[in-house]
Amino acid sequence: MEPHLWKYDGKYGVDSLSYEESFKYLFNPEEGFQDFNQWAQQRRFVGRSAHIMDLMGRGDFMEDYDSMLGIALTEFRSQEERAAQKNKKIIVGNLYQGKIWGKIKKYLTERNFSGFDLIVCRPLGPFVHKAGFECKFRQEYLEIYFKLLQRAYNLLSPDNGIILTELPEFKGRQELDKAFCSVWMEKLECAGVKVKFDCREQDRGSICIRMDKSSASPQDLPDVMASV
Ligand SMILES: C[S@@+](CC[C@H](N)C(=O)[O-])C[C@H]1O[C@@H](n2cnc3c(N)ncnc32)[C@H](O)[C@@H]1O
Repeated sequence: MEPHLWKYDGKYGVDSLSYEESFKYLFNPEEGFQDFNQWAQQRRFVGRSAHIMDLMGRGDFMEDYDSMLGIALTEFRSQEERAAQKNKKIIVGNLYQGKIWGKIKKYLTERNFSGFDLIVCRPLGPFVHKAGFECKFRQEYLEIYFKLLQRAYNLLSPDNGIILTELPEFKGRQELDKAFCSVWMEKLECAGVKVKFDCREQDRGSICIRMDKSSASPQDLPDVMASV
């Protein structure tokens, strides 16, 4: 195994954050769950499914689900582990290329799923574009991010599906990013998308977002690139 490869998706050591820590301010107290296993149990209790996709991660952040699909550049499980974890699959591939999205759609169609009930995307490294201490914001990263988010949103179940994601640096500075996000949020709300931002100064200084999809939600996200 290459020593530099990331092995600890979503549950690495004490110095880092769990997914619950990253996204906890996007959980609504009245919903009554504080972690993802509880979220899945609640869904099951009311006869709903819990099909999950971890974009840029290997789905190690929770145990209680109907199915888990991880999308990452590497897969560490042995043949025996894969056989034992029947409801977990990892597709190895590059999300910046179109063909992996075809594989994800095929995965859904083969299983007759209407979409994923939860999609999480906390890439850390891939969205941080830094050289030394200088932040290298580039417009094309923004375009790529919104294309990925659109594709993910399209694969979200309309049965109260949730997307949780950490955002890349949009404008390269926290205050500019917050201003950008408030314009974007307005645009999303105007289009009928249920959305919540967490713009606190977190330990990594990142901004997180949650979108909820129901049968009343629009099919597509509004084009944000028109306003940047
Ligand atoms: C730093 S790890 C973060 C893992 C996990 N999401 C977490 O927060 O603990 C980055 C993950 O993104 C995956 N990754 C990076 N670039 C990717 C790409 N272009 N397409 C698919 N996966 C990618 C890596 O394989 C790795 O699993």
